[in-house]
Amino acid sequence: MTIGVLGAGYVGLATAASFAARGFAVVCADIDEKKIAKLQIGELPFFEEGMVEVFAASSIPVVFTTDLAKACTCDIVFCCVGTPSAADGSADLFFVRSAAKACADVALNAIFVLKSTVPPGTSLSISKFVEGKLRVAANPEFLREGHVIQDALNPSRIVIGADDESVLSVLLDLYSETEAPIVSTNTVTAEMIKYASNSFLATKISFINDIANLCDVIGADVRSVATGMGLDDRIGAKFLQPGPGYGGSCFPKDVRALIHLGRSVNVPLRILEATTAINADRQLLPYRQLVESLRNLKGKRIAVWGLAFKPGTGDIRDAPALELLRRCIADHADLVAFDPRVRSLPAECGEVKIAAAAIDALHNADALVIMTDWSEFAEFDRAEILKSMRGNCIIDPRYVLRG
Ligand code: UGA
Repeated sequence: MTIGVLGAGYVGLATAASFAARGFAVVCADIDEKKIAKLQIGELPFFEEGMVEVFAASSIPVVFTTDLAKACTCDIVFCCVGTPSAADGSADLFFVRSAAKACADVALNAIFVLKSTVPPGTSLSISKFVEGKLRVAANPEFLREGHVIQDALNPSRIVIGADDESVLSVLLDLYSETEAPIVSTNTVTAEMIKYASNSFLATKISFINDIANLCDVIGADVRSVATGMGLDDRIGAKFLQPGPGYGGSCFPKDVRALIHLGRSVNVPLRILEATTAINADRQLLPYRQLVESLRNLKGKRIAVWGLAFKPGTGDIRDAPALELLRRCIADHADLVAFDPRVRSLPAECGEVKIAAAAIDALHNADALVIMTDWSEFAEFDRAEILKSMRGNCIIDPRYVLRG
């Protein structure tokens, strides 16, 4: 069986890598020529631990191409293109529709599987959009950036949504050798599983951040609260780490899109409305603390450790650090940042200097803000940091430093 993959982002490349690792012939196509040129010489367009090695070790080398038709004429075509937020918060399905059209044009009746995160109902609407020329199924992924290969090769579960028995049996067959539990259902339910999972995790984070706000005022230690709660296996310890809000290319956009879907059918999702409001507020926390401590930020040198939305990646999409930088830039602060994986910033942050090492960013700094919980930052102690700075303000919303 041959596997076509449309889109060479995190999801597409993880899909290509995991099927290649299992011995399938894979064709991965993307319209971005630069990306494909890199992949053709064995380089990734982004940093992701272990991915290059999986591609290099595959018995049948993955074909990377800008010719979508080559991927569309495989036995099963996985659609892994982006679904960015539209201005109204809904998911913009332009790329999904374009991919479906490209496939329907060359491969009548192909099995077209949506791995892109799409609002419930999308498989059915895509099927209509291509006038039934494709057999559309949903097979959402649950990959975490920074652990993409690990998650793709050892998934927690496989969710298959199909509205047609023949498609379901092909997909069940495709995954017959994986050990993960399989949930098979219709497409709208499969799509909902993905949105509900991301929304629940985002809610867990906002919950602990709300509790952190209260702990700070009443003198309780939120980390111990999280530990104490997490030991109850009905609650679980994961995703109870307080911080400057969740970021990245998934949670913010997916929660927004689910809220939008709820509103569109008159079912307001009140918990998710609160989740996003708490998140927006927590993203402002480091800035508010800076202003409280330094008063006027104009001309003040502020060191920022961590730009990526989380450790293990160089991805700054919707990273809480960007919100901090924007506000400090507006206040004419003098910013120096360091992140082990981020070497450049968007044009709007052009005046932010990038230090070569964490310690270098501290030189003459009036304040340090730690925005990403990279483990290497935890190796510093406060006294050592303070010795390298001019001022004495350390803001550590993720509790990276000991003590
Ligand atoms: C998330 C989900 O965890 C994956 O299961 C899902 O497949 C993926 O979205 C997706 O839809 O593609 P990811 O965006 O890579 O994965 O990142 P997470 O590890 O979930 O972290 C998201 C944000 O939450 C980060 O900013 C992180 O710092 C923050 N976070 C996470 C906390 O503030 N506290 C926590 O306890 C956990």
